[in-house]
Amino acid sequence: MQTATSIEGLREEALAALASASTEAELEQWRISFFGRQDGRMTALLRSIKDIPATERATFGAKANQLKQELESALDSRQTELKAAALRSLSTEAALDVTLPGRPQAIGRLHPVTQTMRDCIKAFGDMGFRVAEGPEVEWDRYNFDGVRIPEDHPARDMWDTIWVNTLFDGKHKMLLRTHTSPNQVRVLERTPSPPVRVIVPGKCYRQEATDATHEWMLTQIEGLAVDEGVRMTDLKGVLYEWSRQMFGHDRRIIFHHSYFPFVEPGVEMAIDCFICRGDGRECHTCHGTGWIEILGAGMVHPHIIETAGYDSSRVTGFAFGIGVERVALLRWGIEDIRNFYANDVRFLSQF
Ligand code: FA5
Repeated sequence: MQTATSIEGLREEALAALASASTEAELEQWRISFFGRQDGRMTALLRSIKDIPATERATFGAKANQLKQELESALDSRQTELKAAALRSLSTEAALDVTLPGRPQAIGRLHPVTQTMRDCIKAFGDMGFRVAEGPEVEWDRYNFDGVRIPEDHPARDMWDTIWVNTLFDGKHKMLLRTHTSPNQVRVLERTPSPPVRVIVPGKCYRQEATDATHEWMLTQIEGLAVDEGVRMTDLKGVLYEWSRQMFGHDRRIIFHHSYFPFVEPGVEMAIDCFICRGDGRECHTCHGTGWIEILGAGMVHPHIIETAGYDSSRVTGFAFGIGVERVALLRWGIEDIRNFYANDVRFLSQF
């Protein structure tokens, strides 16, 4: 039978268990074991009141109800205490420490060929050239025929071509452009009358055996200026000014005659080799010549001027095609062009 002693025992046990409950889950467990409807020990104590002899029932009942209230308010305060402790630990342990140094971010940079390309665009932009674009997958009519390299012309051998397995309009052959010169024709075609003064930057592709100065993917900048009275001296002046901007005043430049079917006359421009300075020793970069060729150029062939609908007796023009990787090699004294596309961050992060 329940007595006043058992009420006191239950009180001590319940308060001790409550004090050691330190999580929400443990508190819930405590509530079930003392106040659960089925088996809660406090619930059982209250149920037992009716079995107490009538003479003691009032006293026992009062004590039991008093304990019930005491335990309920103890549960309330323990819940409040635990919530406060959880908040405290959030604001100390998990708090953001603004005094900690930040984690350094790896900073990316522009590829050296892109940097060189942008500097070239800036230099030509300052001389009044605007940028135009053309497709990398090109129609053979523009890449070859339009620039006076018909089928079977030996000049087609100069650009070992990567052909695309699709025909344009079901009948015309497509290829990865081997140079940016098809854009001479594209730009003239869409310009009803002179003047024209554009550069066309972009990637080109050739089936090349690679070496220190040859890659199978290369970047070119095509330049085209067409107007009444444009002369070879204008071409040289523009290229001298551009090379001064890119390489400074000290580098030596040479022009020598060359053949391209779409210009007459044609030239190549080369810069003194930064490795051997032409001292005659075996040099892998300039092959002992002392010069590194960086561009082809010349006066636009009158036939191309006529095809564009201009009068070639009055209108003349010059064109050039710069190898941007070669320019980057020369600017930074890099010995091998293949470094640019080997994707080695140790190399690329130096620029
Ligand atoms: C041409 O591509 C002509 N379209 C250039 C031109 C334009 C001439 C306008 C006249 C008028 P060439 O094949 O020489 O020419 O290439 C031009 C430049 O591209 C070269 O001087 C060189 O700097 C670069 N180049 C050529 N082949 C490669 C290669 N495989 N790898 C890296 N650069 C190259």
